[in-house]
Amino acid sequence: MSDNPLLGTLPPQATKIAVEYDTLYAFILYLSIFFFVLVVGAMVVFIKKYHASKNSTPGKIDHNTPLELAWTIIPTIILAVVFAWGFVVYKDMTVPPGPVYEEINIIGYQWRWDMHYDHMEKPLVNELVVPAGKPIGLVVTSADVLHSFFIPDFRIKKDAVPGMYTKMWFQAEEPGEHIIYCAEYCGTAHSGMLGKVKVLSLADYEDWKKPKDDMAANLPPEKAGEELATKYACIGCHSADGKAGIGPTFKGLYGKTENLADGSTVQVDDDYLRKSILEPNAQIVKGYNPGMMPTFKGQLDDKDIMNLIAYIKSLK
Ligand code: CUA
Repeated sequence: MSDNPLLGTLPPQATKIAVEYDTLYAFILYLSIFFFVLVVGAMVVFIKKYHASKNSTPGKIDHNTPLELAWTIIPTIILAVVFAWGFVVYKDMTVPPGPVYEEINIIGYQWRWDMHYDHMEKPLVNELVVPAGKPIGLVVTSADVLHSFFIPDFRIKKDAVPGMYTKMWFQAEEPGEHIIYCAEYCGTAHSGMLGKVKVLSLADYEDWKKPKDDMAANLPPEKAGEELATKYACIGCHSADGKAGIGPTFKGLYGKTENLADGSTVQVDDDYLRKSILEPNAQIVKGYNPGMMPTFKGQLDDKDIMNLIAYIKSLK
């Protein structure tokens, strides 16, 4: 939490920018409170003091030059200070101090964030891993609709726009974890479009980057599938416990006969599941909306899909 008592409800300050930003914010807030009290206070006093009952004949006042100069010049100076200060903070937020240590490409989808690293073949889903104490560059875009990439603890937020690459940067000071939000309403599961920033020490980060054995290879298929379902946020829409969701629950799905939107029926088997993962709109179950699920073609390979099917099978 912020140390500033009036700003106590703001998220923690995990970057230097956050401190700069909050200081300016506090300045504007206190200034507004000061002038609010001054103006409204004077108003209340004058209402009483100059009430018609006590002043039956209005006085004749045309103008007061010193007073008019004061209320023009002082606010102009304050405005110029707020502008100049805001410009400096905005510049610090927008322009990294030097070359960035790592640049990560981020793509927003309905409804997840894919983080593409140069050293990895597949993206990390809803997880951004970065080193502490180094400037990190982000290039943000969207594959479908408007999203907004927002890390409150870092005080950075920019829209992810289809067909446009938007640059951002930040430097997290300490190892730790921070939430990533989507801050632009982007459809049904907008509120579930959450991610995490994992800030590691520089040594841990370099260690994390080194190629290592595929851990999933050593897991039993249904366990590997469960990890994939979490990683790719499948379970955000398809519950594992029978609860209703945006998509049919995984529980008891395998082997079931489903009525499709086009009036036909299908038995849920490996082939149907595979097709639904790669072409989600081909065979929509009755009562569900088409266009809700993105395709996972090119993101999941055959082994991944088999593991996912094994996981769904295990949820009887
Ligand atoms: Cu993506 Cu809201």
